[in-house]
Amino acid sequence: MVTGGGETEETRGLELINRGALGRQETDADLIVESLGFAPLSSNFWTTTMKSLVSLLMSATLSLVSGSVLAAGPAAAVAKPDLAKGEAAYAMCIACHAADGNSTTPVNPKLAQQHPEYLIKQLQEFKSGKRANAVMSGMAAGLSDADMRNISFWLASKQAKPGFAKDKDTVALGERIYRGGIPDRQIAACASCHSPNGAGMPSQYPRLSGQHADYTASQLVQFRDGVRKNNLQMTQVAAKMNDREIKAVSDYIAGLR
Ligand code: HEC
Ligand code: HEC
Repeated sequence: MVTGGGETEETRGLELINRGALGRQETDADLIVESLGFAPLSSNFWTTTMKSLVSLLMSATLSLVSGSVLAAGPAAAVAKPDLAKGEAAYAMCIACHAADGNSTTPVNPKLAQQHPEYLIKQLQEFKSGKRANAVMSGMAAGLSDADMRNISFWLASKQAKPGFAKDKDTVALGERIYRGGIPDRQIAACASCHSPNGAGMPSQYPRLSGQHADYTASQLVQFRDGVRKNNLQMTQVAAKMNDREIKAVSDYIAGLR
């Protein structure tokens, strides 16, 4: 059993349990038993014993954590983000995303007022390669988990600047897709996940309103073409959209507020 950096299999198991308690997907006792290294032994006795131990531990951890989680939301169980450190670490991002997170370059996304959990997820996935982008993978490589948290919460605290739709001819089509989807191709309304005004829904669904149309369109094309593969829901939404529809809904979103 290989253990690195002083981290034991037990602490990793506990980390999984803790993450489970915060509502992520890894709550399955099987997965935890596997992460503890017992699955390959194929000994029923051990697996069963470990499973009941893990279930016990899980319920203990859950009842311990649930008080604070209910009181102050999922972030309460982790250290408070340091906004001043976030602002300082963001210095190397300003050239592309602007000092207040409202990038003025259409290919660089606006980040201000975005949900912090979404930003953290993206930075982690740029770092791991799950979301592929040469520039951002390089930028995220040097960030620690704490840097990502601090930067993301700082960005979330900045006010997003509204944008404008530019193409009068396609606004109606864009609005129709955003609000009603494309029923005959089973494309769900964007509003159902990203909310009617595009503010998104914390913490799962990112804010879209006011985003540069070029950036939004590029992401929809990347989802459709399998270049961005970090979310199945969006791959399915974009799969059946044509270029005209992508352009129309992206332009509409830029003006949404
Ligand atoms: C050289 C320009 C450049 C720099 C510097 C840069 N970025 Fe980016 N960033 C981009 C581009 C371009 C994208 C869009 C990537 C894509 O198309 O997937 C992006 C995307 C992102 C996203 C995803 C946003 C979303 O809505 O999904 C985040 C988060 C982000 N950058 C954060 C940062 C942070 C934090 C830093 C500093 C540590 C940084 N960026 C530095 C160019 C840059
Ligand atoms: C079933 C829910 C759902 C629906 C419907 C949906 N989305 Fe999304 N969308 C998501 C989720 C979840 C993400 C975050 C993906 C991730 O974590 O990387 C996302 C991300 C995005 C992004 C990337 C944002 C960024 O900053 O990079 C764009 C653009 C987007 N959606 C546009 C749309 C449009 C346009 C529609 C309607 C045609 C739509 N979405 C419909 C769930 C949905």
